[in-house]
Amino acid sequence: MSESYEFNFVGKKRAALEAQKKIQATLQPIINQSRDFDTTENLYIEGDNLDALKLLQESYRGKVKCIYIDPPYNTKGDFIYRNDFTHSDWCAMIYSRLLVAKNFLTDDGAIFISIDDREQANLRKICDEVFGEKNFIANIIWKRKVHGNNMGFIPPVHDFIVVYCKDINFLKPFALPQSEETLKKKYSNPDNDPRGAWTTMSLTASHKGPYFAIVNPKTGEKFFPPPGRYWVFNEAEVLRRIADGRIIFGKRGTSKPVQKVFAAERNLTSKPTAWFDKQGSNSDATKELLKIFGRKIFVSPKPVTLIEYILKFATDKNSIVMDFFSGSATTAHAVMKLNASDGGQRKFIMIQIAEATPENSEARRAGYETVCEIGKERIRRVGDKLKAAYPNLDTGFKVFKVETFTNH
Ligand SMILES: C[S@@+](CC[C@H](N)C(=O)[O-])C[C@H]1O[C@@H](n2cnc3c(N)ncnc32)[C@H](O)[C@@H]1O
Repeated sequence: MSESYEFNFVGKKRAALEAQKKIQATLQPIINQSRDFDTTENLYIEGDNLDALKLLQESYRGKVKCIYIDPPYNTKGDFIYRNDFTHSDWCAMIYSRLLVAKNFLTDDGAIFISIDDREQANLRKICDEVFGEKNFIANIIWKRKVHGNNMGFIPPVHDFIVVYCKDINFLKPFALPQSEETLKKKYSNPDNDPRGAWTTMSLTASHKGPYFAIVNPKTGEKFFPPPGRYWVFNEAEVLRRIADGRIIFGKRGTSKPVQKVFAAERNLTSKPTAWFDKQGSNSDATKELLKIFGRKIFVSPKPVTLIEYILKFATDKNSIVMDFFSGSATTAHAVMKLNASDGGQRKFIMIQIAEATPENSEARRAGYETVCEIGKERIRRVGDKLKAAYPNLDTGFKVFKVETFTNH
C-alpha cells in the first residue's frame, strides 16, 4: 500500500480489528440435517460468515483454490437481509470478511466477487488493499439480462465479477477445455486420416523466415509465400512434412500448400475473456430454481452455468471451492454438476447466515423458514438427481452451526 494514497471509510479501523478479534464460538455438527456425514468432504456452515471464516481458518488456511462470493449489493429492495447498508457499513462489512478470506486461498488461488455499479469502485479499492494491486486479474462484465429496465439514463444489463489472485507469481494460466461442439466445428476427418480429425493452418508468417519454392510433387506446380510473408519451416522440414502428409496442397491436392494439424496433437484449451455473455442470465437462474423447487423460492440467485464456467478454468479436479454468501447454494450445485461432467472431486464449503425468509413469501409458505433451509434442500435435491446417474459422486455435506457463547 503506497503511503500517498489510502482508501478510507468510517469504521475501517474497527473493521480491521473485527477481522482479528478472537471469537467465543464453536462449530456444532448437526448430524440429522447432514448427508453422508462420515464420508463427505463438503461443508455447509450456518451462521455469520465472519464468525464461520474465523472458525474454519485453522483447518483450511492456504487450502481453498477458488472463492466465489455474491455479497448483498447494497441495492435497496433487492435483498431481504440488510438491504439498507450505508456506504461505510457496506465497505466495513466486506473489508473485514475479505481480510480473513484471503488466508484461505492457496498460493495459486483466486477470488471472484459479483458486484454491480454501486459498490464496484469501492470494492476494487478495498481489494487492491487486501490482495494487492499487482494481484488484480480482471473486472469481468457478465451480461445478466437482455433488456434494460429503464433504470437511469443508460440502463445497465450487466454485473461485474471482480477477480483477484492470492499471488500473481504463483497463479497458473486459466485454461478452458474446448467443448465437443467447438471441436466438431473446427476439426473433421474427410479423408479418414488414421491420426484423427484435423484442420488446416497457414504455412506462412509475416516475420522474416525461409523463402523458397515449394513444389507440389504430384503436379510439379511451384508455390512461393505471398508478398511480405515467409514459410514457417525450412526446405528440409517442408519436404519431410509433405512426405508425412502434414503439409498438403489443399483438400483436393491442387491448391497452395497448408499445414494439416490434428486435434489429438494440440493442447486444445482456450483462455476465458473478461466478456461473459453466454454464461446464463438472471432469468435462467430463476428458471433453474423453479425447476428444482416448483416455485419461486429465492429472489436473487446466480445461474449455475455462470459459476460452473468460472470453476472450469479456475479450479483443478480436486480443488476446494468456497462461497461464504451462498444464498440458494448455486455454487454447491455448480461444483457437483461439474464433478459429474468431468469426473472431478472438487469439494465445496458453503457459508450462509440463517436469514429468515420474508413473511408471506412463497418460500415461507412452502415451509422454508430460513435461507439455509433453501440452500440445504437444493443440495439434497440436486444431489439426489446427480447421484442416480453418477453413483460415485460425493453429494453429501456436513452441516455445522456457529454457536456463540458468552463468558459471564
Ligand atoms: C446475493 S445473495 C447470494 C445468492 C447466491 N449467489 C445464489 O446464487 O443463490 C447474498 C446472500 O448472502 C447472505 N448473507 C448476507 N450477509 C451475510 C453474512 N454476514 N454471513 C453469511 N451470509 C450472509 C444473504 O442472506 C444472502 O442470502
